[in-house]
Amino acid sequence: MRILVIGGAGYIGSHVARAFLDRGAEVTVFDNLSTGVRENLFPEARFEEGDILDYGRLEAVMKGGYDALVHLAAFKAAGESMEKPEKYSVNNISGTLNILNAACAAGVRRIVFSSSAAVYGEPEYVPLDEGHPTNPENYYGFTKLEIERFLGWYDKLKGIRFAALRYFNAAGYDEAGRVRGLERNPANLIPVIMEVAVGRRAELKVFGTDYPTPDGTGVRDYVHVSDLAEAHVAGLEYIGKHDRSLTVNLGSEEGLSVLEILEAARKITGKPIPAAMTARRPGDPAKLVASSARARELLGWTARRSDAATLVRTTWEAYTRD
Ligand code: WQD
Repeated sequence: MRILVIGGAGYIGSHVARAFLDRGAEVTVFDNLSTGVRENLFPEARFEEGDILDYGRLEAVMKGGYDALVHLAAFKAAGESMEKPEKYSVNNISGTLNILNAACAAGVRRIVFSSSAAVYGEPEYVPLDEGHPTNPENYYGFTKLEIERFLGWYDKLKGIRFAALRYFNAAGYDEAGRVRGLERNPANLIPVIMEVAVGRRAELKVFGTDYPTPDGTGVRDYVHVSDLAEAHVAGLEYIGKHDRSLTVNLGSEEGLSVLEILEAARKITGKPIPAAMTARRPGDPAKLVASSARARELLGWTARRSDAATLVRTTWEAYTRD
């Protein structure tokens, strides 16, 4: 099986490339290294440096003969997407349309797409299942939902089968330490906590302590990136076997609060990790937790490594590896 992993030098993309390599697939990574890093490239995988905005390059690479592609190349900062929507329109939407059209030209008919729980927006109920209304609150989430709609049309009109995987909060690192790249200037909770623990930031700002949650801080569904990666393999197997597309949530179905994560980090790192209780971050819902029942039923998938201790320990190991 020859797989093209677009965005495969990134945090999630490199774990996905690793999962396909571990199953004996022949993997090529296509990445412009704008946020991905060379140290996330595996010697067993081919590397094609390129930009999804360069249609000619994309088409030429795809004509190399691939059974499937995985598309993880996107900007993902929800806050930034509200300040610079044009950046997200060009990269996330135009870039994806290039990928879809190059796939048609090259005869690549299976796509695994990195979608997001951000397509749902403010939850009307939790846990969120795939039938929950999709009213994204930020432009990033809007681009992911629009791409899912493009995929639906390309399925209908061009016979491209896709697996749209709606990630909840991706976290953790490969337990064998094979992925080494750290995100530059992270905004997500666990890497920010790690930067405080190693002294790169002075303190953690806890965004809001007055939410209607047990300890007043935001609750999220953190899912280990290796669990996510396994779902990409299972998703591709499913669309190949059934010749049918699918859209599933990927979450641990467990909610963890900011303070629960912070306490786990203090315990595991042995560091004080100073924290300031500050105002809510605009747009943050109190609680986001997945129902992954459909992924369990259709893919036989469950999150196996997504407990707080494993998420924090594997991230701490990545931040303290020399
Ligand atoms: C988690 C919790 C914060 C940082 C975002 C995107 C989403 C997806 C995942 C791509 C919240 C709190 C955080 C900090 C804090 N991205 N927090 N201090 O906002 O749930 O989701 O990343 O698919 O689209 O929106 O993740 O890690 O930013 O926040 O208190 O310095 O931690 O309020 O409760 P979020 P997060």
